[in-house]
Amino acid sequence: MKDKLNVALVGLGFGGAFAGIYREHPSVGELTLFDVDRSLAEKTAARIGGAGIAPDFEAILRDPSIDAVHLVTPIPLHAEQSAAVLEAGKHCACTVPMATSLRDIRRIVEAKRKSGKNYMMMETTLYTYQFLYAERMKTEGRFGKIQVLRGSHYQDMAGWPDYWMGLPPMWYGTHAIAPMVALSGSRIARVHAFGSGTMSEELVRRYGNPFPVETAIFAFENGLKGEATRSLFETARTYQEGMFVYGSDASLEWGFADNDPPLITTLAPPREGRRGGVTETTVTPMPNDYSDLPEALWHFTVGGNFDPLNPQESLKTGAGGGHHGSHAHLVHEFVSSSLCGRRPRIDEILGANITAAGICAHESALRDGEEVVIPVF
Ligand SMILES: NC(=O)c1ccc[n+]([C@@H]2O[C@H](COP(=O)([O-])OP(=O)(O)OC[C@H]3O[C@@H](n4cnc5c(N)ncnc54)[C@H](O)[C@@H]3O)[C@@H](O)[C@H]2O)c1
Repeated sequence: MKDKLNVALVGLGFGGAFAGIYREHPSVGELTLFDVDRSLAEKTAARIGGAGIAPDFEAILRDPSIDAVHLVTPIPLHAEQSAAVLEAGKHCACTVPMATSLRDIRRIVEAKRKSGKNYMMMETTLYTYQFLYAERMKTEGRFGKIQVLRGSHYQDMAGWPDYWMGLPPMWYGTHAIAPMVALSGSRIARVHAFGSGTMSEELVRRYGNPFPVETAIFAFENGLKGEATRSLFETARTYQEGMFVYGSDASLEWGFADNDPPLITTLAPPREGRRGGVTETTVTPMPNDYSDLPEALWHFTVGGNFDPLNPQESLKTGAGGGHHGSHAHLVHEFVSSSLCGRRPRIDEILGANITAAGICAHESALRDGEEVVIPVF
């Protein structure tokens, strides 16, 4: 087993948030950066105290010394680039979504299986303080029976790069869907969804998507159900990537805004002679979670002043705790699983189910709520 992984990081907008983490990870050897905007690669290398810069993407694929590639490029490039990385015999991590069609998900899954290398979908919500806390609550049996799950992602995309304009909301539903799948202990098997609202003709044209908002009910293989709502355009709602878990003994509900601490509600039997069980709700600040990370990365999980809506601004001030502390965990999981030759936690099977559930939800919304079965990958 190699003791160091040589990594290339490709796409340095949001991707720039990961550069310093790779640089400081004790099991990363050489770090190579690439962005079609070379000046951005140079600035990023300077900010983190040095890294190699590739002249183009193909040079990374051809370089036998590079073991693994993390893609943080625009959404329409994810499928093509992920398949190319795997076909070049390298481990591949890719930001969300995995792809925007079932055909492209299949292509990545096949490339992964042929290559024998790792594929990891870098889903931030599965390493937030909130998710890790909910996961512990589940392990400790504090929810009782999980009865139903919810997810939400409200974000206005005005002014974002062109490929976002008119994107079907559930094509990027992963932040609302992923925590539900991971906590269900199952996979999403079926979906019914509706689109709602209207938006400007310009937005409708690009993807033939008429909906600014989509809401879906997902049926899990184990019988559980989950509901998710995703808004992208012309909908006034403060930003939130929320997770809601309702159990027979306790529930966890995300705060109103993305940075608000969650509410934990417990249910006790009715008091003598009264109707209805007794609920008690506490606003619960989340503990930071870094004990399973190399010490050199701990500082990347805190810092609070990271702005997920404008990561490029946060990077200028050196903010560390992006997406509720998740970035360092994602890097560590990708690096350590690749080095050990084990499956990463968000492998091609989990990534495919989360992403395909969103693609099928949009399909259902276009068919006015008809059931769509999510293929098994
Ligand atoms: N929480 C999350 O997981 C999260 C948050 C934000 C963005 N994202 C994802 O990250 C990706 C990037 O987001 P962003 O906001 O930085 O996007 P962006 O479009 O603003 O920037 C992408 C970067 O990639 C570069 N690029 C474009 N084409 C390239 C190519 N062929 N090769 C290499 N680099 C190329 C661009 O120059 C730019 O610097 C998107 O796919 C988005 O879905 C995920």
